[in-house]
Amino acid sequence: MNQIKIAPSLLAADFGNLQRDVEMVNQSEATWHHLDIMDGVFVPNISYGMPIVKTISKFASKPLDTHLMIVDPDRYIQTFADLGVYMLTVHYEACTHLHRTIQAIKAAGMKAGVALNPHTNVELLKNIIGDLDLVLIMSVNPGFGGQSFILNTYEKIRTLKQMIKENKASTLIEVDGGVSMDNAGKLIEAGADVLVAGSSVFRSKNPSETIAELAQVSIS
Ligand code: DX5
Ligand code: ZN
Repeated sequence: MNQIKIAPSLLAADFGNLQRDVEMVNQSEATWHHLDIMDGVFVPNISYGMPIVKTISKFASKPLDTHLMIVDPDRYIQTFADLGVYMLTVHYEACTHLHRTIQAIKAAGMKAGVALNPHTNVELLKNIIGDLDLVLIMSVNPGFGGQSFILNTYEKIRTLKQMIKENKASTLIEVDGGVSMDNAGKLIEAGADVLVAGSSVFRSKNPSETIAELAQVSIS
């Protein structure tokens, strides 16, 4: 079984010390930097935009895993590619022509992911799973850090894992929201490949050590 990937969410970083926090992630056992882009329309919150992504990109030494919580994401695909994004994830609920959007992300040279809200059935990805590099399962309602983990996530991961196997796809499963040492083992056991963690990392006494602990969670 592959090593779990950890993607600390910079939404929970100290923006007054952004360079310091990005560099902490650089030095840690994290695999990716997770960036959350919110437009105040798709979700009831606005996070940060291009100038901050540009700053993060300047200091980050690991791939940028960028989660767009915005309507009509096609408008900004080239912009994120130019900013050096590695993985660009759009919401299923925000894309009328998902297949076209995924192809456009790949044509711009990035890996393509699709995020599902807690109420969205994973079966809806059946006809596109082979084209996806990653599926992000939201384990809270998108928009804010620090919320409680929704329990139906485990079942969604298991169903998705089965679908990926049946299609002989190599899609990664990422889980985002309320992830901590309390549920990491169970998420990996269900089939998660990437864990996003915001509050549980940045609100801990030693964020770098917390990342290492998450990265070392294993199942027998
Ligand atoms: C929420 C974002 C998450 C958020 C996770 O909409 O997608 O990435 O930063 O934060 P925690 O880990 O605190 O739930
Ligand atoms: Zn996210």
